[in-house]
Amino acid sequence: MRKSISFFLLGVFLSVYSINAQARKEFVEKTNRDIDKSGKVISPDLFGLFFEDINYSADGGLYAEQVQNRSFEYNPTERKDWNPFSYWEYITTGYSYGRISVETKSPIHPNNPHYMVIDIEHVGKEAKFTGESGVGLKNPGFGGIVVRSGQKYNFSVFAQQLSDAPIVLSINLQNRKGEVLASSSIATSSRNWQKYTATLTATASCDTSSLVVLAKTEGKIALDVVSLFPEKTFKNRPNGLRADLAQMLADMKPHFIRFPGGCLSHGDGLGNMYRWKNTIGPIEERKEQRNIWGYNQTAGLGYYEYFQFCEDIGAKPLPVLPAAVSCQNTGGTWQLGGIGQKAIPMDEMKDYIQEVLDLIEWANGPVTSTWGAKRAAAGHPASFQLQYVGIGNEDNITPQFEERFKLIFDAVKAKHPEITVVGTVGPAPDGDDFTKGWKIANELKVPVVDEHYYTSPEWFIANQHRYDKYARNATRVYLGEYASWGNKLRNAIAEAAYMTSLERNGDVVRMASYAPLLAKKNFTQWNPDMIYFDNVKICLTPNYYVQKMFSANQGNLYFDKVISKNEKDSTLAASCVQDAKTGDIILKMVNFGKESNPMKVNLGSFKKIVSVAEQTVLAGKGDDENTLENTQKIVPTKSVIKVSKTFEYAVPAMSLTVIRIKTSKK
Ligand code: AHR
Repeated sequence: MRKSISFFLLGVFLSVYSINAQARKEFVEKTNRDIDKSGKVISPDLFGLFFEDINYSADGGLYAEQVQNRSFEYNPTERKDWNPFSYWEYITTGYSYGRISVETKSPIHPNNPHYMVIDIEHVGKEAKFTGESGVGLKNPGFGGIVVRSGQKYNFSVFAQQLSDAPIVLSINLQNRKGEVLASSSIATSSRNWQKYTATLTATASCDTSSLVVLAKTEGKIALDVVSLFPEKTFKNRPNGLRADLAQMLADMKPHFIRFPGGCLSHGDGLGNMYRWKNTIGPIEERKEQRNIWGYNQTAGLGYYEYFQFCEDIGAKPLPVLPAAVSCQNTGGTWQLGGIGQKAIPMDEMKDYIQEVLDLIEWANGPVTSTWGAKRAAAGHPASFQLQYVGIGNEDNITPQFEERFKLIFDAVKAKHPEITVVGTVGPAPDGDDFTKGWKIANELKVPVVDEHYYTSPEWFIANQHRYDKYARNATRVYLGEYASWGNKLRNAIAEAAYMTSLERNGDVVRMASYAPLLAKKNFTQWNPDMIYFDNVKICLTPNYYVQKMFSANQGNLYFDKVISKNEKDSTLAASCVQDAKTGDIILKMVNFGKESNPMKVNLGSFKKIVSVAEQTVLAGKGDDENTLENTQKIVPTKSVIKVSKTFEYAVPAMSLTVIRIKTSKK
């Protein structure tokens, strides 16, 4: 018995050793650098982002569309007082009159059934008294459209001329007094649905403008997908992202992005699951649907845009598809303990599995394949290099879940052994679902599973050794959602301490992402979040800065024994990694305590270090926090410091310090 245990341990040692040796060889070959030999190889994808359209993160947030209810698809299942007219004000100017109606007889596409018809009976000729005359619509955007003087805005609309003569539409942006800030016009030229575009250049700035579309010709016209984007989106992508918000995410240098949820993925009942095929292709053909968080999702920020954003910022995409079951909280049953899970009938599973496989073909397949061709038609012939696919989101591990997960997992493994499937182990760090989920993962040899926990800062401090005890060379962990309850510095520093333990266990923990990511002021369903914003400002929380300090300073090799500290004091934490690309050594030192505390650094095992290093410190009082009114209360400070092979560093009370040290080839 003892002999077989020691053979087993020897086998484990050899396979770990060979992974280490192989990975190190690759680093050296790739970087032509002498990477230190004593480090442990850790995940190259450790820190990334989790994006979910919660708190108006996408529509009204990161997605730069300015028009709210652009396709007249809002309805009472999303919010009781919503309907296709919501956020559209009927306007008549200059003694003009007419009527509007929402119709469904001949839509642009069956996925986009509603459109607005304007019947312009009379256009007043009294314009000299009243300004422009006409009949039309006004949209306030998501709490006001932000316009900046000198900037351009791209307007587009689908229109169908329903009367004989062309209809002239005046397009303008107005402030609350009705003063025009930008204007243009278009004239219809077809009795079929046709897209018209115009560029508006603002002559003044305003944070609360509205878009006005005014028909100036008597007749009848149908309108749909009324859209306005700033010309300057992130990377100037059409149908793109709000540049300032996207830049904050790019600055974190995340190694992956998980999307589109969260609960949004598996949905509020089977009819509300996020089906990726409804979110690609021309925006006028995408299917809007109720957002599980109580509003509408246009799917304008759909799978194509998610993948493109990942590529734009050098992050690996991690799409999460439902495991063919809906959220257990469906129908609000979280109040009853989450008993609302519904499953796709078994006789529909073949099609559902095909949908999962089609995603892989869409992302990676050649342009000659059915789905690869659709990716190419959208403007991306090259593969998106999809490596990870998530199946399920913190589902209740019921027999119906297990049966379906296994079918999907086996199918992906058989057809795409190159894909790493990320499974799920329930919504908590322990308990029944967690145990059952891990049992399935071990039996099926699922490569990675997704753990979630939202808890107190004290829990994070007390549980820093959680992953030290996990089996090596078994299923890896993706800590897909975690946060301590709050946005004060103490919360962020507790998370920082925990993140050093994720680095230490980077051989077991494959990925980790804080949650939720974004929240719009006054439209927030979940607190705390990493970044708060309104239409103009962005508030970066201490939690954001901690995430950024780790994410932008990831390594591939982990070294213990470089930093020594009082091991009995759990308020102190530290880690040392080396980045294979640059050869930089990165030290992270955390103090959750009330007093400054010394740590000793010994870089003796590294060959050549450059003595001038870059230091970033996030420190303050435990209760410090940023708000949209005061975004600068707690921000990291950067400085250049001198380091030597051995030195002592007094880690400030309630702080995270990152020291980045260059190594030299000579
Ligand atoms: O991050 C917010 C929510 O928390 C996610 O949608 C869900 O997965 C978890 O319960």
